[in-house]
Amino acid sequence: MCGIVGYAGDKDVIPVLLKGLQALEYRGYDSSGVACLNGKDSRIFSIKEEGKLENLRARIDGDSKIKGIGIGHTRWATHGVPNQMNAHPHLDEKEQFAIVHNGIIENYVQLRAELEEKGIHFKSDTDSEIAVQLWQYEFAQSQDAQEAFRKAILQMRGRFAFVGICHDAPGHVYVFRRSNPIVIGLGKEENFVASDVTALLDYTKDVVYLDDNEYAVLSASSVEVYNLETKEKVDFKPTKIEWSSEQAQKGGYPHFMLKEIYEQPAVVDAVFNKRVVDHMVEWDTLDSKQEELLKQVHKIHIVSCGTAYHAGLASKYMIEENARISVEVSVSSEFRYSDPILDKNDLVILISQSGETADTLAALSEAKERGAFTLGIVNVLGSTIAREADAVIYTHAGPEIGVASTKAYIAQLMTMALFSIYLGQLRGVLKEDRSKSLIDEAAEVSNDVKRVLESQAELIKKCSKEFYERKDFVYLGRGYDFPTALEGALKFKEITYTHAHGYAAGEMKHGPIALVDENLPIICIAPQSKIQEKMMSNIEELRARKGIIISVGTEGDTALKEKSAYMFEIPAISALFSPILTVLPLQLLAYHVAVLNGRDVDKPRNLAKSVTVE
Ligand code: AGP
Ligand code: GLU
Repeated sequence: MCGIVGYAGDKDVIPVLLKGLQALEYRGYDSSGVACLNGKDSRIFSIKEEGKLENLRARIDGDSKIKGIGIGHTRWATHGVPNQMNAHPHLDEKEQFAIVHNGIIENYVQLRAELEEKGIHFKSDTDSEIAVQLWQYEFAQSQDAQEAFRKAILQMRGRFAFVGICHDAPGHVYVFRRSNPIVIGLGKEENFVASDVTALLDYTKDVVYLDDNEYAVLSASSVEVYNLETKEKVDFKPTKIEWSSEQAQKGGYPHFMLKEIYEQPAVVDAVFNKRVVDHMVEWDTLDSKQEELLKQVHKIHIVSCGTAYHAGLASKYMIEENARISVEVSVSSEFRYSDPILDKNDLVILISQSGETADTLAALSEAKERGAFTLGIVNVLGSTIAREADAVIYTHAGPEIGVASTKAYIAQLMTMALFSIYLGQLRGVLKEDRSKSLIDEAAEVSNDVKRVLESQAELIKKCSKEFYERKDFVYLGRGYDFPTALEGALKFKEITYTHAHGYAAGEMKHGPIALVDENLPIICIAPQSKIQEKMMSNIEELRARKGIIISVGTEGDTALKEKSAYMFEIPAISALFSPILTVLPLQLLAYHVAVLNGRDVDKPRNLAKSVTVE
């Protein structure tokens, strides 16, 4: 996601745009830029810079006196590494059209090829530049800015929002929305547009939310909304916003972490829709040579830290189940000093949300020095791991602001589950009917995530109120549920500051069961699976010692419910995808207990979002 702003009115445009981008920087901070048109010149003034907004501010002298219309963008890169050339706004060669974009244009490669054949030169590596080149091309045919804007949009596939200005309509700002958020702010003799209300609240609380496939034309004195297909004008009813600016950044949630937990259905949906075409799993960043290498590797090593390490452990079960290749998982800080035995037949996968974790970066160097093939599974486009690994797959979770990782973890799990199916298909070990049924199930996971978050919320809050003052918690799981036990315990301890420990359930009798008494809440992850019977025996052992059982189980599992003080329910699902669902109640449990304990949920003490030191 990224931040988009637009303005039509008689204020100095650039300060208005910069202020709006400042409020939206949480949506992306790879680069930023503005473009303005004062109505007298036929050329657009544009300036853009890599990195945070302060870099752009430093380039803009004072409060540049340009009145008229303008657009701005703060980027979260998906296509084209974060640099000045790939920063938005994107302009055509004559600098008469400018566009800012949020989202992904799925058919940009084909459209770019068609336009290049027509002699149009591209400057950037982004998908977004297609939009402005298409707009100016269509204008050359029709000489009608609004119709050309509409025709350009109709040719692009994907979920996106656009805002644009052009020399032929010096008083107008053009806006389009399909799936990605865009909102119009209604002022007095001035109008605004932004990715969310955060950027508008200092000017107006009267807003208009565009529906999908609607476009709007803003001027200082008017806002007109149209249906993309029919071109018919659409009536709209303004909404009065009651939020503060800070509340709006969090989408009305009290913390970024809670907002990001509830973004998870959309994240799972985005990962699936980007990676699966006609029941085949595809990676836009892997070429045929890299695919060939993946076909031949004899062993896989997964190396990562913290939550990403837990995603690595879950990935071991996924890959060994579907691709039948041996997988070894290590924490980066151990791997890098272990003098690992590697050669060209080894694949080393580095999972990292930030792509900047020092220990994982060092592990990458060790792996490359030893001749292994390295693959980064990364969220931040163009990050160091993404650039230095031999190959990269992006998880497309969007910016994760909360220090405690939630949606990035879910994106890692969904990506690796699909990767395991892909590897199985690539190496011919996953039967077609099994592969198809897993893909069919994967298509439903987003709905399952939504269902768990909605149906279990109140029970989790009730449970949190009962146990938030306890001083120790144990998390247990077997097989696919073991990494979830570790992740649940990590989420808990890192934001509540209360000790919690995750164990493989079978290990309890080898010592940790000495902890169990009537004061100890034990979170047992026990969805119905081929090993649930063993988990039920462990639960009996714990109950025999008066342990308090809080379980995560499959809807309708009355046997488990009878043994549990609280049972958080998930829909029945294959083990492959179960870690995506079983972690959800644990994220919310950690969140509510932390809030009840008055913790700084988004910025817990002693922690950093990306550990770039050893
Ligand atoms: C998880 O909630 C923590 N913030 C931390 O363990 C994190 O997962 C770890 O530092 C790895 O970060 P990375 O994914 O950016 O490499
Ligand atoms: N896909 C566009 C890019 O990579 C827009 C990304 C965004 O939504 O920030 O520049």
